[in-house]
Amino acid sequence: MARPLLPTRPPAESADPDDLLHLARTSFTDALARLRESESVATLRDALPMLWQQITDPSSSLRTPVGEADVTTFSKRRLRDALDQIGSAFTLERARYYLDRLARAVQETRTGRINDIDLNRWKEYDDILTDSLWLFDRRDASGAHHAGFWGNFVPQIPYQLMRRYTRRGDLVIDPFAGSGTTLIEGRRLGRHTIGVELNPAVVEQTRATLMHEPDRHGVVCALDVGDSTTLDWTALLEQYGHRSAQLAILHPPYHDIIRFSDDPRDLANAPSVETFLAMLGDVVARVAPVLDGGRYLALVLGDKYADGEWIPLGFLGMQETLRHGFTLKSIVVKNFEQTAGKRSQKELWRYRALVGGFYVFKHEYIFLFRKA
Ligand SMILES: C[S@@+](CC[C@H](N)C(=O)[O-])C[C@H]1O[C@@H](n2cnc3c(N)ncnc32)[C@H](O)[C@@H]1O
Repeated sequence: MARPLLPTRPPAESADPDDLLHLARTSFTDALARLRESESVATLRDALPMLWQQITDPSSSLRTPVGEADVTTFSKRRLRDALDQIGSAFTLERARYYLDRLARAVQETRTGRINDIDLNRWKEYDDILTDSLWLFDRRDASGAHHAGFWGNFVPQIPYQLMRRYTRRGDLVIDPFAGSGTTLIEGRRLGRHTIGVELNPAVVEQTRATLMHEPDRHGVVCALDVGDSTTLDWTALLEQYGHRSAQLAILHPPYHDIIRFSDDPRDLANAPSVETFLAMLGDVVARVAPVLDGGRYLALVLGDKYADGEWIPLGFLGMQETLRHGFTLKSIVVKNFEQTAGKRSQKELWRYRALVGGFYVFKHEYIFLFRKA
């Protein structure tokens, strides 16, 4: 079936060094200013191939080694697109408008408060999703990521959330850390992470996994055994030299659809949906005070089926979270990877669906909340 599938490891993170151009900021700005002085759109257009030649010639004065103070880095493809847009303008005024936009992207960085996205160069962030439907064809298995933990989420989820809702050096907390997907991604992206996980055996295994992810940015990447329904996050953060967090990612069990342990404090062992929601509420209530105002909490949750009835666990969890001082900002629907067990029973599920008058789960939700 033909459908748009998102890249497993987005381009920014696997940036091809051959696609990157390191340009001398001042010289390039001057070149754009000269172009702006063209007398007509035709002369301006005629000058573009020469500029492109200079840009792509490694020995030209427009090029500079990476690491120089006066450097601006572009994707060759993106810069080509920007120049093509200038060249396709019908009027000098329009061409100058595009030129000014490019000059601004070269000269200044414009970021918001909660991420490092340079809004003057927003077109370059092809890897960052802004639509509410996320379709991933396979999980990112690079570095320390592995699919061996039943019930983990794909690394693309914390990747997207951290790029969108945190800056480098921010702290991300995960009260249901499991196999450490959030922690691995944070270490990679230069975000501090503190995770809590109830199951000591899982913590031990995850700590070993984390050793395989190189610490290039020198960030905290801590995992503690604990019960997130009663946890004192202020004390835990203090242990690692932090006072507050800038993003919380919550990926609880989807009630009892996977058994993680025998521990009664495990949300998967809640005796009813009502108790599950109350426990989830306890976790949110513990997390909320350490999250900075204006920052985000992401809840990743799917629905379940019981006694012939679709239980909208996702929306029930959303309602529960809203009781703790958050505003709902988005509901993302993400395609659901079938677990190994279910895959072998795919045909059986299809048959059951046809007989039972229901649809087989193929999606889960990512609810985005902003703290007031
Ligand atoms: C859906 S998994 C999270 C998977 C994780 N996102 C990953 O990618 O590996 C839920 C985890 O929450 C843990 N858990 C359940 N109840 C908990 C509690 N009260 N406190 C802390 N962790 C808990 C489970 O042991 C399980 O590892």
